[in-house]
Amino acid sequence: MDNNAAQNVAEGNASKPPKLLIKGGKVVNADKTENVDVLVEDGVITDIGYDLAAPPGTMVIMADGRYVIPGGIDPHTHLEFEFMGTKSVDDFYKGTRAAIAGGTTMVIDFAIALPGQSLLEVYDKYRSMADPKVCCDYGLHVGITWWSRTVSKEMELLCAQHGVNSFKLFMAYKNMFMVDDGELYEAFARCKELGAVAMVHAENGHVIEKNVHKLKQAGVTGPEGHEMSRPEEVEAEAVHRAAMIASQTGCPLYVVHVMSESAAKVIEERRNAGQTTLFGEALAAGLGTVAPDGKCSFEVAAAHIMSPPLRKTRSTPLALMKALASGALQTTGTDNCTFNKNQKALGKEDFTKIPNGLNGLEDRMSVIWDKGVNTDIIDPQKFVEITSTNVAKIFNLYPKKGCIEIGSEADIVIWNPDKSKKISATTHNHACDFNIFEGMVVRGVPETVIVKGKVCYQHGRLMDSKGHGSFVPCQVFPPHVYGRREGKYRPDAGDCGKAKDTQYCLNTLNFPE
Ligand code: URP
Ligand code: ZN
Ligand code: ZN
Ligand code: ZN
Repeated sequence: MDNNAAQNVAEGNASKPPKLLIKGGKVVNADKTENVDVLVEDGVITDIGYDLAAPPGTMVIMADGRYVIPGGIDPHTHLEFEFMGTKSVDDFYKGTRAAIAGGTTMVIDFAIALPGQSLLEVYDKYRSMADPKVCCDYGLHVGITWWSRTVSKEMELLCAQHGVNSFKLFMAYKNMFMVDDGELYEAFARCKELGAVAMVHAENGHVIEKNVHKLKQAGVTGPEGHEMSRPEEVEAEAVHRAAMIASQTGCPLYVVHVMSESAAKVIEERRNAGQTTLFGEALAAGLGTVAPDGKCSFEVAAAHIMSPPLRKTRSTPLALMKALASGALQTTGTDNCTFNKNQKALGKEDFTKIPNGLNGLEDRMSVIWDKGVNTDIIDPQKFVEITSTNVAKIFNLYPKKGCIEIGSEADIVIWNPDKSKKISATTHNHACDFNIFEGMVVRGVPETVIVKGKVCYQHGRLMDSKGHGSFVPCQVFPPHVYGRREGKYRPDAGDCGKAKDTQYCLNTLNFPE
C-alpha cells in the first residue's frame, strides 16, 4: 500500500473473490475519455460511473490523476518457438509474465505447421504448451507453409471447432516456410470462404536468396549482410503483391511486422484506393529503435536481427508512428521471439544462420507511449486504439477485450504517465540475456495491471499468476473486418475440448467438395 494507490478492502465477506473498485482515474477508451470509477466483479466489469460506492468485500484501488486503460493486446508473439535450429527462450510462462509487467494482458501467438505437417497437430501442441503456463489470456494464429486439400480442410476445422480465425502465410524463408503466389491465392481464397483473416510475412524470398548468394560470393558473412540482403523495396514489393492477391480473392489481409516506411506507404496507398480490409502492424522494435551501426560487436548486431530487418534509416520509427497516427497502420505488436547470445552465435560465421527474432513484449506499451504520446504524435485514445482496441476488433475479441465497458473482461491497466523507467536486460522479466532497448529511459509505465479481475502486477511487483490465463477462441467473420452481414459459413467457433484427438475432429465435419 502507498499513498499513490491507497488500497483498502471495505467491510464484508473476505472469503469471496475480491471485487475491485478503481476510483478517481481517467478511463480511456479508443473513442472517449471519462473521469469515472470502474467496478469489477468475478473478472468482469459490472459498473462504470461517477462516485461508485464499494460493495462489501471490495478492494478499492485509488487511481487519482492516472489513466485507466484496457490491457494491451499483443497480436504477434513467438513463445517457445522452434525456429532456425533452436527455440525461443521466452516460454508461455515467462513471456506472458513479462507481458503483464509491461501492461499487456493478452497475446496472440503463432502455431506454425511445417511443410507436410498437420495444422491440427501443431495447434494441439501449442495448446498443450501454453494452457498450463499462461499468466494472461492468449489466442493462436495458425501458420501455413504448404498447400493441399488436407490443409484446406484443417483450416475449416480450426475455424469451426478450435477458435482460430487467422492464418499466416510467408513470402520469405525460402525452403522453410515460404509459399508461392499460387498457394497464397488458394489460402487467401479459403480464408475468405471461412470468414478468417489472412496474415502475411511480406518479403520477396526469391530475391533475398539471390542477394544472399551475391553477398557471400563477395565475402560478406557478418551480420551486416542481413539487412543488405533484404532492403526496403524487397519488403514493399511483397506487401504490394500480397495486397493485390488479397484484393483478387476478396480476402481481408493483415500485414504483420511492417518495418519500413516504403512498406507502410504501400498499405496507405492501397487503403486510400479502397482496399479498406488491408491492415498493417508496426512493432515496438520498429517504433522504438533502428539497426545498430556497422561498428558494433557481433553480439549487438546479432541481437537486433529479425525479418524484415530493423532499418538503418533513422527516420523510420517516426514515419511508422505517424502511419499509426494517420490510420495508415492500425495495430502494434512485438514479434517477441527471444534468443540468448549463445543462440545468436549460431550465425557467427554466416549471417543467414543467426536466429531471427528479438524482444518487445514487456516494453511495447511504454516504448509506444514514450515515442508516441510524449511526443504528441498520438493522444492517449489513439494509444489505446493501436495497442489494444484495433487488435480486438480485427480478431473478433471486441468488446469482450479491447475496451473498458460494462460486460467486458476486466483486463485493465492503471497507467502512470509521469513515472519513468530505464529499460535493461538486467532488470527485465524476459528469459533472454539481451534487450534491444537497453538503457532507454521511457516515461509512462503501468502501475497496476489487472488480468481478468485479478491484480497481477503492482508497483513493480509481479504476483504469481501461472495458469491464470486461458485460451480465448476467436470467432470467424469479425464484423469489423467482414461487415455486419450473415456469412454463408458461421460455425460456433470454440474449443471442442478434444484438442488431443485430431482424428475425432476430422471426423466431425463434412467438407465441401
Ligand atoms: O525475425 C522474425 N520476425 N522472427 C520471427 C518469425 C517471423 O517471421 O515472424
Ligand atoms: Zn514473420
Ligand atoms: Zn513473427
Ligand atoms: Zn479438436
